[in-house]
Amino acid sequence: MKILIVGSGGREHAIAASVAKSPKAEEIFCAPGNAGIAALATCVPIGALEFEKLAEFVKEKEIDLTIVGMDDPLAGGIVDYFEKESLRIFGPNQAAAVLESSKAFSKDLMKKYNIPTAAYENFENAGDALAYIETAKMPIVLKADGLALGKGVLICNTKEEAREGVKTIMQDKKFGMAGNKMVVEEFMTGREVSVLSFVDGKTIRIMSSSQDHKRAEDGDKGLNTGGMGTFSPSPFYTKEVDEFCRKHIYQPTVDAMAAEGRPFKGIIFFGLMLTEDGPKVLEYNARFGDPEAQVVLPRMKNDMLEVAEACIDGTLDQIELEFEDNAAVCVVLASEGYPVKYEKGYEIEGLSCFEGKEGYYCFHAGTKFDGNHKIVTNGGRVLGITAKGATLKEARENAYKASEWVEFGNKYMRHDIGKAIDEA
Ligand code: AMP
Ligand code: GLY
Repeated sequence: MKILIVGSGGREHAIAASVAKSPKAEEIFCAPGNAGIAALATCVPIGALEFEKLAEFVKEKEIDLTIVGMDDPLAGGIVDYFEKESLRIFGPNQAAAVLESSKAFSKDLMKKYNIPTAAYENFENAGDALAYIETAKMPIVLKADGLALGKGVLICNTKEEAREGVKTIMQDKKFGMAGNKMVVEEFMTGREVSVLSFVDGKTIRIMSSSQDHKRAEDGDKGLNTGGMGTFSPSPFYTKEVDEFCRKHIYQPTVDAMAAEGRPFKGIIFFGLMLTEDGPKVLEYNARFGDPEAQVVLPRMKNDMLEVAEACIDGTLDQIELEFEDNAAVCVVLASEGYPVKYEKGYEIEGLSCFEGKEGYYCFHAGTKFDGNHKIVTNGGRVLGITAKGATLKEARENAYKASEWVEFGNKYMRHDIGKAIDEA
């Protein structure tokens, strides 16, 4: 098979590495890709939102299957576009991708189908939201309705902060159109767990659990980022939690989407909070998490192409997912200053250290070739260094060891990825 992967981050590199292991994969393309993905795939300079050009490329190269890594093209209807052109593509159509692209939709869905989540109200104008805040209990969480690169969530401790927050989202439109609507929800406490799944419209298959570290600085301080590191599995995701979620969250979500006339095919990412009252849904994403994919996919034993095709064909009930009985940790190497302001263009040294090292991965996110065939930094998150180990502690040690193999200007990382493991 010939495969096209759409996207350019660490997640897409992890997807490409997983696809490359499949005996069915003859040739892999990635649009637009990055300098690391280029070692596994032919990168083509077409943007993820250029549906027409992507479809033309797929026809020209006779590509059999397109896999979409990112949220924007899914929310924009890339799947609908490809299906109209009779091209095979893995991911939810626009009607189903709304599970991620509208938080108001997802909250209403959970309420209607009794799926556990934080209590909330949706608002379409700032006046109503402000009036509500005067009577609400603090802290409170404000969420811009639409896609906001994981940054459209404000946790407000006081009414003053909440008033400011409403202004930021709905009046100043800091997150753009995403702030045309807003969800105001109850603040929950507990451990967070990410659970990725494959879905074929009716059947859902759960992958091994993981945990992200969203804040920029050690000790969960600093700004929210796309994710600074992950570990898998989560020791807090117990058998009881799993049973509860299967019964009350996973299958009910798939059934709810089907009942709404929006059957979901692709990846559902459940962002869960393990509260004192049981697991609750923080958010849904309609794609692999990044950097969650960088610890989950290297541990998956299944043939990625087989599973993706089963999702498209509606035959996922014939597949059981299998994961290695080990652990993985990913430490993100970022550019100092991320997520606000950072420099790019520094040469990355030491990448060859990963060659031939079983169980170690250097997933590229923001990297590119400069004019002289050198790989340089090209983004906030630069590399995801993943290592496996027999235990989480061993994987963490390995990942931090490997994080020292590469160097670049303004290299920045958190030093406490997986600290929670010690409390398990
Ligand atoms: P989201 O994009 O909805 O996952 O929100 C980003 C982050 O904000 C989550 O990973 C949580 O750390 C935090 N968060 C979101 N909603 C809540 C909530 N209701 N209570 C506490 N923290 C939350
Ligand atoms: N790591 C969180 C996300 O991919 O949204």
